[in-house]
Amino acid sequence: MQATLTSPFRIGDVEISNRILLAPLAGIGNWFVRLQARRHGAGLAVSEMVSSFALHHRNRRTLDELLVIDPAEHPVSVQLFGHDPEAMRSAARIAAEAGADLIDINMGCPVRKVCKTGAGAALLSDHDLAVRLATAAIEGSQRPVTVKLRSGREPGDDSGMELAVRLAGAGVAAIAFHPRPASVQHAGSPDRGLVRELVDRVDVPVIVSGGLRSAADARRAYDASGAAAVMIARGALGNPWIFEELAGRRAASPRPDEVMRELRWVMDRAEQHFGAARAAPYLRKFYPWYLERLGLPKRANRPLQSASTLAQARDLVARLARPDTDVHDRAPTRFAGALAPAPA
Ligand SMILES: Cc1cc2nc3c(=O)[nH]c(=O)nc-3n(C[C@H](O)[C@H](O)[C@H](O)COP(=O)(O)O)c2cc1C
Repeated sequence: MQATLTSPFRIGDVEISNRILLAPLAGIGNWFVRLQARRHGAGLAVSEMVSSFALHHRNRRTLDELLVIDPAEHPVSVQLFGHDPEAMRSAARIAAEAGADLIDINMGCPVRKVCKTGAGAALLSDHDLAVRLATAAIEGSQRPVTVKLRSGREPGDDSGMELAVRLAGAGVAAIAFHPRPASVQHAGSPDRGLVRELVDRVDVPVIVSGGLRSAADARRAYDASGAAAVMIARGALGNPWIFEELAGRRAASPRPDEVMRELRWVMDRAEQHFGAARAAPYLRKFYPWYLERLGLPKRANRPLQSASTLAQARDLVARLARPDTDVHDRAPTRFAGALAPAPA
């Protein structure tokens, strides 16, 4: 019988407290987004992808910003991408020294900028190199190494399945499998039957990724695939409560005051990490997720998107949070009014 999502499992020698994971999210999955997922019940959060070359060459910003790990995050996985085994070996060692409990290698990213270097989904066309990269990361980090990959390059191609089987035989400790071909990016339905096939073919945990936009989607994918764990990506954007739901800790949607508290928490952590000047533009991608959670119309984002300082953004957010306000009961036009810039 399949274990419940709340039961622990192991990746190599690392015990994960449950089977509900935060996916790697480029430009998003830094320490505080991962910590947020962990606070809300994720058993493990994977970092945004980090260039193995940048680590290998000790790029200052990559070391100082992308390798920050909060002590409360452990266990944590750092995802690396690259195509050069020696750079991967030293990057994996540096990530492990920075505190990564697990190293993940990105072999699924279909974005041109990554693939044209021979990294990400391009590795579906060079299995020997993919295995050498994984082996180098294992040797360099002395940590369990996982790989995240797609089922193939285009519809009908099963190179991802074959590579996953080979990697598991070469010592990779778990496979995160996104059963959509790289060519469709995020379109179409993931084929959960392929995940089940991989589960039957390898002895390491298989983690199902793709199309898990709600707790119900994730439960269905878990049951249908027989995977060891689920990996939430877009479903967690501005919605850390999805982890509580899946962990059986919450049935109702978050109240507006909970959403506001969480948005302020993210703003505070972004200021701590980037400083106010860089946090202001960085946070713009976060506002629409939280405003949608508050039931606000899209146009309510406009003032926040054009706020040029963090102080201005905080002021706009404060006006959303008047204590007498139940935002869910307010008409859309009044939301927009509440967010209009203050008279000069
Ligand atoms: C904004 C964004 C950034 C992503 N960044 C990464 C990444 O850095 N590494 C990776 O392996 N996958 C990345 N992915 C893919 C996700 O981890 C996940 O596999 C994909 O979104 C499918 O899951 P979903 O349909 O539940 O969102 C990213 C996806 C999105 C939407």
